Amino acid sequence: MTHSVTMTVNGKSVSGKVESRTLLVQFLREHLGMTGTHVGCDTSQCGACVVHVDGKSVKSCTMLAVQAEGGKVTTIEGLAPSVDKLHPMQEAFRENHALQCGFCTPGMVMSAIDMVKRHNYQLDEATVRRELEGNLCRCTGYHNIVKAILAAAPAMKSAGV
Ligand code: FES
Ligand code: FES
Repeated sequence: MTHSVTMTVNGKSVSGKVESRTLLVQFLREHLGMTGTHVGCDTSQCGACVVHVDGKSVKSCTMLAVQAEGGKVTTIEGLAPSVDKLHPMQEAFRENHALQCGFCTPGMVMSAIDMVKRHNYQLDEATVRRELEGNLCRCTGYHNIVKAILAAAPAMKSAGV
């Protein structure tokens, strides 16, 4: 059965026809061509597919596109305020060498932003490590990712994002 869905993605209203079983990540990647959101597993463990739905981080492989009907979705493509300026979390990942192959990075960044906000911009290393349980990285050993998130928290606060 097909359904029409409409949602806001990165501030823009988008619509499409999807099957009932179409996942949000498939809608983003295959219908909208927004391939910044990655798929790294088929067990909902890796977190490469994390996006924000109505301000909360969600594994977009665990949600149907129809469940996001009328919602506000933000993906990695929607974070940077302009082409020559990154979001403070993206900048912190760049500055702290928190990525190697970059495959996990979109999901890491989206989870990290939600984490910083939920903890009111105040995080310690143990909290960051615990909160990253749902995001897997095969490259970095996590040390620089943790450093980046700790550095981004005050930067996000001063930038008011
Ligand atoms: S693709 Fe969604 S958790 Fe791995
Ligand atoms: S940077 Fe390669 S998987 Fe994380």
